[in-house]
Amino acid sequence: LTLAIAGFAVLIRTTETGGSLKYVFITRCKEYLETHDEVRVGIDCNEVWDAFQSSFVAKDPCKISVEAYDGLMNTAKQKVPCNEMVFWSKTKQMAHKFTQAKKCFMTLEDTLLGFIMDGLTWCGSQDGNDTYTSGCPNWNTCEQNPVRSFWSRASAHFAESACGNVTAMLNGSIDKPFSAKSIFGSVEIKKFNPMKINYVNVVLIGRENYPMSCKNDSLQELEKTLIPKFKYTCTTVLLSTILKCLEDPQKPCGPCWD
Ligand code: APR
Repeated sequence: LTLAIAGFAVLIRTTETGGSLKYVFITRCKEYLETHDEVRVGIDCNEVWDAFQSSFVAKDPCKISVEAYDGLMNTAKQKVPCNEMVFWSKTKQMAHKFTQAKKCFMTLEDTLLGFIMDGLTWCGSQDGNDTYTSGCPNWNTCEQNPVRSFWSRASAHFAESACGNVTAMLNGSIDKPFSAKSIFGSVEIKKFNPMKINYVNVVLIGRENYPMSCKNDSLQELEKTLIPKFKYTCTTVLLSTILKCLEDPQKPCGPCWD
């Protein structure tokens, strides 16, 4: 019994010290590097982990600033080719299905850091160096939580580096496809560089029998924000059309809305 209790204590401790988070982080990092020769050079997954965890360990999990991840961004620098960047809002699943099938496009979650952190929750505590994956603040518990600040920082970095023509996949099956409060609206479009970006191409994805239009109020608001600095297009496309296109070998590189 003593042994069993001792074993149990060790198990909890491993999780509490971030054993599982570190394991997932390093495993995903290595998996990404194995399949992406172009980013492999100069990146050490243990160094990336160290930079990541130093952003939030031993700190109040409601006081993690966006800037806390600056060091991490420098450790995991990655160049994304012009014309390939896809931004999205309320279309996560579709955008990722699309970039998985059409390798000439990339979302933030197709970059090293986005790939590692996608779907994870993490935080530290002021009382020690442990890393937690549960009991952490939610997205809206406090603004400066480790997860929200990470995505704001990573999204800002991704958007700053965007060049050429960028694609934004928005959801045509909801009343407000564009929200100024979303990460796309509050972080990414503000970081778009007019010196580097030519077109912002909005693709509004909708379902049959649901009225969608580029004239939607929220899209007019987006257009007004973008138009002084960028060329802008907006195209509506049915989800079924994109799904068919994903399997079309004649269109290895998309796009699926021409
Ligand atoms: N609670 C929990 N998670 C949230 C919340 C919330 N209230 N709001 C946003 N998120 C997280 C979730 O992980 C969600 O899948 O952000 C993701 C995107 O939220 P959306 O509202 O769908 O989109 P948006 O806020 O515009 O962010 C998407 O940011 O991740 C980058 O480059 C990416 O262009 C993309 C944009």
